[in-house]
Amino acid sequence: MKKTTFLFSKFSVVLLIFILSCKEQTSHGKKESELDVTHTYEEAYRPQYHFSPPANWMNDPNGMVYFDGEYHLFYQYYPDDTIWGPMHWGHAVSKDLVNWENLPIALYPDEMGYIFSGSAVVDFKNTSGLGKDGKAPMIAIYTYHLEEEENDQNYQQTQAIAYSLDKGRTWTKYEDNPVLPNPGIKDFRDPKVMWHEETQSWIMSLAIKDKISFFTSKNLIDWEYLSDFNPEWAAYGGVWECPDLFPLTTDNGQEKWCLLVSINPGGPNGGSATQYFIGDFDGKNFTTSSSEIKWLDYGVDNYAGVTWSDVPQEDGRKLFLGWMSNWLYGQEVPTQPWRSAMTLPRSLHLYKHQEEFYVASKPVEELKKIRSDSRILVSSEINFEDELIELELTPNQDEFKLVFSNDDGDEIVFQKSDALFKFDRSKSGKVDFNEEFGKIHEMEDLNLSIEKIQVFIDRSSIEIFLNEGQLVFTQLVFPNSPISNLKTYGINNKVSMHTLHSIWSDDKPTP
Ligand code: FRU
Repeated sequence: MKKTTFLFSKFSVVLLIFILSCKEQTSHGKKESELDVTHTYEEAYRPQYHFSPPANWMNDPNGMVYFDGEYHLFYQYYPDDTIWGPMHWGHAVSKDLVNWENLPIALYPDEMGYIFSGSAVVDFKNTSGLGKDGKAPMIAIYTYHLEEEENDQNYQQTQAIAYSLDKGRTWTKYEDNPVLPNPGIKDFRDPKVMWHEETQSWIMSLAIKDKISFFTSKNLIDWEYLSDFNPEWAAYGGVWECPDLFPLTTDNGQEKWCLLVSINPGGPNGGSATQYFIGDFDGKNFTTSSSEIKWLDYGVDNYAGVTWSDVPQEDGRKLFLGWMSNWLYGQEVPTQPWRSAMTLPRSLHLYKHQEEFYVASKPVEELKKIRSDSRILVSSEINFEDELIELELTPNQDEFKLVFSNDDGDEIVFQKSDALFKFDRSKSGKVDFNEEFGKIHEMEDLNLSIEKIQVFIDRSSIEIFLNEGQLVFTQLVFPNSPISNLKTYGINNKVSMHTLHSIWSDDKPTP
């Protein structure tokens, strides 16, 4: 029942857009310049140190891969409107995960369907044979979503590949697509591919309705089914989407495998959210001995996130980025001429707490580059002159409270009390664009004693990292004027405050 609602709510805009695009051709075939809409990166609510597309609709991060000094970020993109529509892969690159350069659209929909979410890898050994003149191909593995009979309830999804020999700037779709045809299952999407050294093969994690299936291939073209993962006790409130399987190591060197699974709806505070599983992967099966549902983010605005492929071994981090929104209201947030941003980039770490393994998400070190001024303030009340702020606070009691406010009397409250974390954005400014947005969110505190709180405020988001990311809360907010005041309770009076630079303004420091 809920799944039907999901499909209706998200994909129902498609029919309308399809009709419109019949009249006026979709972006397919248009030159990038014709798609340009005026944008300045100075609009109200425009994130100043998060990635957002110049204009129009964006959802999931896709094809994140590091190659030759660049972090690639492809993303679900509809270039003709600020709501979801026929999907393309937008593209941006960064040398440092913080400053981004927008590039032309990488993949356009075609007669096989829209280009849904997927991943990218560099085929260094040219296992696919698609490399040329000693150049390793960058290969994108994505889902084709084909709507049949102009009916968004009747669609078919298949997996396909495309390759680039010029660092992701231009792409050729493989001539024998699809590489994984549809076996007669409706939700069959979001391939995330990794190289598995032990078996010298590629492993694909694929979301199939309410399970994750694993496939293997020697060449990224011929795929063979391996196994399924869908334990009884997991969260099943919606369709499973955007899986990612990768190893993580604890500080004392214990290796475990982590499987991320996004789910929509069915998040603990409504709408979409990402659950994860910690276990073992033997090249065929993923198994776990835990039976506790775990959420990657305790906030409501981090969805469909996955990790970068091919980050150099000497770096060794598992780098993550999520879509900073929620399908509950993502298409209604009050921003123009674009909709939605990505979370801050984070590195994922494994930690053990009360005999269970958990994943911590730390903001990447590179973010320190955008600090422009750092001060220690001694007070339980802080006024901000700048609107781009990072704060470091230390609780001195088990229960604490942070109240952010502005000159318009808008208030955002984050607190820990009665073994619960509570995030209240009901009076945070613009909330009535959707009746779910202003709801108060609660999460159990996991019995963690909180020693450090790090807060990042951009114009329309607050990200709170507790204990070096052991717990994280990612939340959108649309205050009527910039947040300019913080009152703290149960917090040490010594607060570190960093003012941050915009990554989009011309006077930013050189990266
Ligand atoms: C997740 C998702 C994916 C799909 C894409 C379509 O947000 O539903 O499952 O590939 O968005 O845009």
